[in-house]
This record gives sequence, structure tokens and C-alpha cells, in this order.
Amino acid sequence: MKEIYADHAATSYPRPPQVAEAMTNYLQNIGCNPGRGGYRRSLEAARMVYETRVLLADFFHVPQPEQVVFTPSVTYSLNLVLKGVLTSGDHVLISSMEHNAVVRPLTRLAAEQGIQVERLPCNADGTMDPLQVRRALKPNTKLVVLTHASNVTGTLLPVYEVGEILAKTDTLYCIDAAQTAGTEKVDFQDLRCDYLAFTGHKGLLGPPGIGGLCLSERALLATNSLVEGGTGSRSEDENQPQFLPDKFESGTQNAPGIAGLAAGIKIINQVGLTAIKEKKRNLTAAFLDGISGLPGIHIYGTKDPNLTTATVSINMEGIDNGDLSFMLEQGYGIMTRSGLHCAPLAHHTIGSFPVGTLRFSFGWQNTMEEIETMIQALREIIKEH
Ligand code: ALA
Repeated sequence: MKEIYADHAATSYPRPPQVAEAMTNYLQNIGCNPGRGGYRRSLEAARMVYETRVLLADFFHVPQPEQVVFTPSVTYSLNLVLKGVLTSGDHVLISSMEHNAVVRPLTRLAAEQGIQVERLPCNADGTMDPLQVRRALKPNTKLVVLTHASNVTGTLLPVYEVGEILAKTDTLYCIDAAQTAGTEKVDFQDLRCDYLAFTGHKGLLGPPGIGGLCLSERALLATNSLVEGGTGSRSEDENQPQFLPDKFESGTQNAPGIAGLAAGIKIINQVGLTAIKEKKRNLTAAFLDGISGLPGIHIYGTKDPNLTTATVSINMEGIDNGDLSFMLEQGYGIMTRSGLHCAPLAHHTIGSFPVGTLRFSFGWQNTMEEIETMIQALREIIKEH
């Protein structure tokens, strides 16, 4: 049976071979610690890291490459922001579609430090009115955190419109681009944000274990480091350097991960973001068209493929979504994710808590033929039950 991977919201697979090749090349042919030595191999590693920073800065339209900080994951990046910025008495606004990477650190900060967390309710299809942010701002609103797109429904939030609203205030603005970096327009300057948190292993096609955070100049001043240690710079000083990116990059870097991420971004630049978006939109439109009206199928989120990433959440009447996911793999080789997707808040919003949903999420590497197979599989399962 041919495998069909439809869990691109979780991670990209299969990755282009260039990603593994770049990682192997680093390990076998460079191998040494970036920024920690004056010999050729260490300098070569440092150059590779710097070139990847430049690639990312160009990709996200960040003014200076130093404003791109490498982290192990988008979850780490978000924790860095939340724990580095918020102090007792601060008010923070989030949407009701946020992932646990935002909700859990904030729940702890609320309990331990008295941070006031306000959740702006999104509509049942996951969409949000940006004016809600303006209405909810208070004098002590330190930070607004929004996911660019829900990992449950794919629904895009109005992050650019909110950026316009916040640009006229002192409130810091953080975007969680876990689901959109590499597949949607993510433009740091147009977003007018202070923090752009991203992961390398989803739309950017890199390996797991590498992510990042882009920061504005005022964000650098407003954010304490989460981890301190060796940076390869100012080693005589027992204080953490306060400049970018060193303030937030302590310890030996994940150089193989950075090399793999660079290879992924180069592929995206070759294929082109517009072509990627177009392909994913066509796949999503065909899938939505094929399953709309199937008996017993409930589709969550907006049905407009222009307003979502290529992610579609469903439930089938009378079948547990975990069982359905199992049947799809056993019978048809189709890989999906079921349950709450680490985003219970989003399921409360769309009305699927506590059972969750079955999630299909497509990459531009999926084909129309695979979409047809997925639709046909659902038709057959409906008929058999
Ligand atoms: N957050 C990732 C997902 O939605 C892992 O599956």
C-alpha cells in the first residue's frame, strides 16, 4: 500500500534530500563548534550559521540578520518571550485559538506571578475580529500574543490588521508562526510585530530541534534572557551580553539543525512561496469540495481555502476520531492526527472539546491523486459503518 502523509501541520515529511545532505555535510565535513575557535573548521561553521541567519532575515523581511535568534523550537521561543517580558500585574491578550505552547506558560505565570491573561473569543469557525484587540487594550497591557494560523482548523487570524492597531501603542506584539512560516506570507516588518516565533521543521522543511525568534529593537530591551551561559563573545564578562543575538543564544548551537534548515529555506525560495500557497490552496479546495455534503461528516473551521492554511479538521458521526485515524492508516495508508492537537482552547472555541477532531493537513508535495484517495477512503468508511 502506498503511504499518504497528511500531517504536515505536525511536521514536514518527506523532507527534501538536500536537508539530510546538508546536515551530513556539516557533521562529516565541517564538524566543529561555530564561534568558539579561530581555526578554519570553526570559522566555516560560524559562516554557515551566519549565512542561515541572513537567509532567514531575507525570508521574513527582518531588517538585520542579528535580529534572528536560533532556539530549539517555537515552543522555546514563545516561552522566552512570555517569561522574559511579563512581570507581576501585567495584562496580556491572547486569542481563543492558541496552542498550549502559549496557554500553559501563561497559566503558570498567572498562578505564580499574578499575570492577568485575557482570552479574546474567536468565532466558531476560528476567525477573529481584529477590533477586539483595540477594545480590550488596557493601560497595563504589556503584550498581545496571536497565532498566525490555528493548528487545529488552519484558520488564519488577522495578524496584519492587529499589527496596524498595536503600532500606535506601547504594547508589545508576538506572532506564533508555527503553522505559517514557509507556507504563508510572514513579513516581520509588515506585521509590525516585536516578536516572530517560528519553527524550522514544519513549513520551512528543516529538521526537528531547530527554531527561532525574530525580535525588534525595542523587544531586545524589553526581554530578559531565559538561559544564560557561554556565547563565544565577551568571555571576560560574568554578565550575559545584552546585544543580539548573543543575549538569547547561550551554549553550543544546533549546527546540524541550522544547516538542514538553510537547505529547507533554499528549496522554498526555489519553488517560490506563491507557488507553494497556490498548490496548497488548490489541494485544500479540492478536499473541502470532495468531503462537503458527505453524510455524517462535520467540517470545522472556515470553508474558504483562502482564509486557511492547508489544514482541515473533521469528525465523522458515530466513529471516534482516533479510530477513524487508525482505519485510514490501516486501510489506505493515510497518516492523519486525531484528538486535541495540544490546543484544547481551540477545541472549546470550535465546539469539539473534549473529543477533538481528525485533522488532515497537506503539504505542497501532496498530489491531487492523493486528495482523491483521501476523499474516496472517507466515502468507503461511511458506507461500511
Ligand atoms: N503542534 C503540532 C501539531 O499541531 C505538533 O501537530
